[in-house]
Amino acid sequence: MTQDELKQAVARAAIEYVPANEIIGVGTGSTANYFIDELGKIKDRIKGAVASSEATAARLRSHGIAVLDLNDVDFLPVYIDGADEITADGAMIKGGGAALTREKIVASVAGRFVCIADGSKLVTQLGAFPLPVEVIPMAQAAVARQLKALGGEPRLRMKDGQPLITDNGCMIIDLAGLHIADPRDLEARINNIVGVVTVGLFAQRGADVALLGTGDGVQKMS
Ligand code: A5P
Repeated sequence: MTQDELKQAVARAAIEYVPANEIIGVGTGSTANYFIDELGKIKDRIKGAVASSEATAARLRSHGIAVLDLNDVDFLPVYIDGADEITADGAMIKGGGAALTREKIVASVAGRFVCIADGSKLVTQLGAFPLPVEVIPMAQAAVARQLKALGGEPRLRMKDGQPLITDNGCMIIDLAGLHIADPRDLEARINNIVGVVTVGLFAQRGADVALLGTGDGVQKMS
């Protein structure tokens, strides 16, 4: 199976975690996009969705799914999203699609985080994928110096020759070369740097369930 077929398989499997007559949280990225396409097929079963990015909101609406503002929702039973890396205990690196802050916010009000990914995302230690850090633009150089002191190689994410600007009007620093032995501790330390909006480590609140696409079918970790 191709990587896209594996992503489609986990997207289909995730529909089982969508409760009827509820509002659910929806992530960002290519795997989340496949999930949204599956959700479109059962859209009459849910009340709507809270999106983790403008791109996800647009795709949900293109399927006729109501998109709600998180401020109008008290609780989401489930948040379904992809990951760039995930460990067996559910700690993740996210933000390859630059939506990490809204992803972390929407996930924080969800009862359950269901991660959907192709099996190549499963790792024994996080850090081979450069760790995204969303920063306030005026602080990007100062934050980069502090990130370098942690032992990584910071790089400002670019798009079309300019710094990439997120849905929140911020920038992304990708921190390469880390071997993340203690993801919870590093998450707290980076979030504590003045000027950081969010780090793309999801360890303090990791995945409760992971559906991983493999050649032998969808494997569930929980
Ligand atoms: C978006 O900002 C990310 O957190 C995505 O969830 C992550 O990059 C996984 O993306 P794919 O599903 O495209 O691999």
